[in-house]
Amino acid sequence: MGDTARRIVACIAVENTIAEVYNYCSNRFDEARDFFSDLSREEVNHATILEVAGGYESAGKLPKDIVPVNLPNIFATLDFIVGVYDKVKGKDVSLKDALDLALAMENSKVESYLMETLTKDTDDKVIHNLRKLLLDERSHIEKIQEFIQQRGL
Ligand SMILES: [Fe+2]
Ligand SMILES: [Fe+2]
Repeated sequence: MGDTARRIVACIAVENTIAEVYNYCSNRFDEARDFFSDLSREEVNHATILEVAGGYESAGKLPKDIVPVNLPNIFATLDFIVGVYDKVKGKDVSLKDALDLALAMENSKVESYLMETLTKDTDDKVIHNLRKLLLDERSHIEKIQEFIQQRGL
């Protein structure tokens, strides 16, 4: 497996772990159940998009600008997300704490690169195909900030 393929696999692990965190939050915070379960579903979708990107990569068709950050960076992010997961499981964590932790996860480079790559202007067919799988999703940072405001948290 080449370096790019490895990076994609590691990014899939990041997306799936974030999905787990949101799934946990949706079970824990009744008042935000649907909000978190939507986010969780979208993270699983990101993992799927990356799996498709991995397919393009193994066929030698992946555009250069879709290559994620280097492996040590991705693993550092994964460590960070696992740490967030531990924190969010703490017994005194409020909904507001969980949302702040969610924003910290979403601010990681690994989490934002897919959205940044797939939403920019390009004529590349592969990027267009992958973008279709995004289904016009808005950034999670935006969604979380909006939710915090709506609930007055
Ligand atoms: Fe994601
Ligand atoms: Fe996200």
